Amino acid sequence: MAINYSEKIPNNVDLSGNKTLQRALEHWQPGFLNWWSEMGPDESSNIDVYLRTAISVETDGWAHFDYVKMPDYRWGIFLTPPEADKKIGFGDNMGQPVWNEVPGEFRNMLRRIIVTQADTEPASVEQQRLLGLSAPSLYDQRNLFQVNVEEGRHLWAMVYILQSYFGKDGREEADALLERRSGDPDKPRILGAFNQPIENWLDFYLFTMFTDRDGKYQLYALSESGFDPLARTTKFMLTEEAHHMFVGETGIDRIVLRTCALSKENSDVRKAGGIDIPTLQKYLNLWFSLSEDLFGGEISSNAADFFAAGLKGRYKESQYEDHRALEGSYRMTTVESGKVGEASGASRDASERAVPARMPVLVDKDVPLRTAMNEILRDNYIDDCQRAVDKWNRTLEKGGLSDRLSLPHRRFHRKQGIYSGLHFAPDGKPLTEAEWQARKNDWVPSASDIAYVESLMKPVTERGKIANWIAPPTRGINGQAFEFEYVR
Ligand SMILES: [Fe+2]
Ligand SMILES: [Fe+2]
Repeated sequence: MAINYSEKIPNNVDLSGNKTLQRALEHWQPGFLNWWSEMGPDESSNIDVYLRTAISVETDGWAHFDYVKMPDYRWGIFLTPPEADKKIGFGDNMGQPVWNEVPGEFRNMLRRIIVTQADTEPASVEQQRLLGLSAPSLYDQRNLFQVNVEEGRHLWAMVYILQSYFGKDGREEADALLERRSGDPDKPRILGAFNQPIENWLDFYLFTMFTDRDGKYQLYALSESGFDPLARTTKFMLTEEAHHMFVGETGIDRIVLRTCALSKENSDVRKAGGIDIPTLQKYLNLWFSLSEDLFGGEISSNAADFFAAGLKGRYKESQYEDHRALEGSYRMTTVESGKVGEASGASRDASERAVPARMPVLVDKDVPLRTAMNEILRDNYIDDCQRAVDKWNRTLEKGGLSDRLSLPHRRFHRKQGIYSGLHFAPDGKPLTEAEWQARKNDWVPSASDIAYVESLMKPVTERGKIANWIAPPTRGINGQAFEFEYVR
């Protein structure tokens, strides 16, 4: 499984042994590079960045660190080694050998799963393209660029699968991935959170904390797939993804640490030039809720079909005893049908707008287990996010502040699924439209919060220096000091 770097496209999939595929990918490569120069990090083509590049797929020691100009980054195709006699681990086809070709009856489903995942990778690069110009330190700027080049590589990973296994439509999908643009009303990216602007570094840390973490759970679910090339490619993507989430989780922790220090200088942290905890909480509410939406509907026949087919499993499927999930149910709180139509109905003419919005009515319901697969994955995700919030709260406690951060309720501020179009407070309590309007600026960033955070975003490009609103990391990258020249 050695990685061949002598080829135009580094790979450990014996690309030179498949000339047709090699030509297709080499044909796609210039389009990718054009996309990178147009939509990748702004004003970055000529700087040297201390980046890691994959040199093997073994669990330890796969990375090589050196200065690289980003357009010269060796984007490649790396799959974890195949396992002998591997069997499908869940669903209706459990126990049968894994597929090494696309099973005809699941072709469309599989293509949809792969394209949806693939689309998020270039989208996040587009969302983050201006951040390099306002980085709080060289260390942070380097981490941003590392995340960006690796999201580019994840696009390669997905395009390899599309071009190898889906013929002509796979090639068309690969081209379309370079044509959509985050936030473009005419050709948007597929999922909501990936069309949301990432305007400042607080957005960025919360995005890598919460949105990249959605990616972790999606990739884990796909790494269980009975379609083995997908399982093997997502497994290696997860090793890269870990750094992205580290950047987010520690980034927020460093902001919290700095806020604690600044609050000793001035009880009004904004006067001391820091990010106050109530503002951080609002941004957290926003990005957590946007990221929860990425898991899809609470009750989903698609999710049931993906599971039944053996294409998308659960997080660490081996933790469960019953891998068919045909029996049993999942208890969830749903919105009683017929009680909310008046508030969220389709018609919005002037006479109807005067009707007072009704409060959502909640009711507990048991749903068949397979239809709850999205919600089960979201549960795992929320537990993981809570662990990070607990950690930030320990930093607050140690730093002598009485404020605490919390995750909003899963019903809060949702745009997808059974709670969308309705209003709930951060504690999950149902609200009328009027109550929501009166309180929303307390719960998600207001125009003045955004303006304040933006006002802090001044670049710091001197070695060993850092912006006032964030603490330096406890250690640098690859054993280097924080003062190391990560970008030059
Ligand atoms: Fe990714
Ligand atoms: Fe990522």
